[in-house]
Amino acid sequence: MRKILTGVKPTGMPHLGNYLGAIRPALAMAKEEDVEARFFIANYHSLNLVQDAALLRSYTYEVAAVWLACGLNPNRVLLYRQSDIPEIFEMTTILMAFTAKGLMNRAHAYKAAVDLNRSKNLDSDHGINMGLFTYPVLMAADILLFDTDYVPVGKDQVQHVEMAQDIAGTLNHNYKKNLLAIPKIRIDENLMSVPGLDGRKMSKSYNNHIPLFAPKSLLRKAIMRIVTNSQGVEEPKNPHECNIFALFSLFANKTETRALAERYRGGGMGWGEAKESLFALLDSKIAPMRAKYDELMSDTSLIDAILEEGSRRARMIAKDTIRRLKEAILG
Ligand code: TRP
Repeated sequence: MRKILTGVKPTGMPHLGNYLGAIRPALAMAKEEDVEARFFIANYHSLNLVQDAALLRSYTYEVAAVWLACGLNPNRVLLYRQSDIPEIFEMTTILMAFTAKGLMNRAHAYKAAVDLNRSKNLDSDHGINMGLFTYPVLMAADILLFDTDYVPVGKDQVQHVEMAQDIAGTLNHNYKKNLLAIPKIRIDENLMSVPGLDGRKMSKSYNNHIPLFAPKSLLRKAIMRIVTNSQGVEEPKNPHECNIFALFSLFANKTETRALAERYRGGGMGWGEAKESLFALLDSKIAPMRAKYDELMSDTSLIDAILEEGSRRARMIAKDTIRRLKEAILG
């Protein structure tokens, strides 16, 4: 069995880019025959930023509800909350001793925060907590505790997984034993860039995103805001230069995609009509998941029960790893 693991930081409702780039491919991977999947909610990673308990709690439920609504089967996939697995924090402490401080200095997120401070003439450590600085060690603990073979992540997380590889290698080398599995990185090249409303990569920070489970009316409003060129209705259009088409083809099957491409090339279809086609397609795909999501969020006791069972099973694996490590490092 190939063991895959990925974590999602609870920071609010995911958008279509998160769904297409991370959630959907991870769920597809979890369905593969020889895969054992572990998906968890990285709420202690969020704590560095979200320091309001009620907010963190609701974000955490949102992540769980999103995964479940998108089709995660908790009987097949291990779903748990990071904060429910104390062994992760024991693992973090162990890994700290094998993590060069210089490695952390090179982390993109930390460096970006330092650069931002400098550009504003602030002290370079301004507003940077140790949770941000040691973020990659906690993430390495998440991964290495579960003997992970593959970590499916987006481009922005590649460096973090490389750091986990580095830390695991250092520890193994010291004890001259393969105590920790070295995780491989898995990026789905096709799905990496999902265009936002303005054509740049979809991102909350650009405010060009479409929330995954926005109510129907808001979904339609967002789609109507997609930026297009000024071609008139009658003009033939190039589907491959259009954000509407790009989003459409990420959700449609081949036949539907080909049919819409023909309509672009034939002329006689305006942008308003293209947007309506996209809205109809998106809503038909999203509505059943949105209904499931709303149901899960209206009474969170089912999520609680699933997470409790998930952490119970996850801890059995985690305890084994910690036992193995302690034997090797403490003698
Ligand atoms: N850092 C990841 C992100 O921001 C979330 C994460 C935490 C994660 N631990 C992980 C991803 C372990 C993969 C494996 O998206």
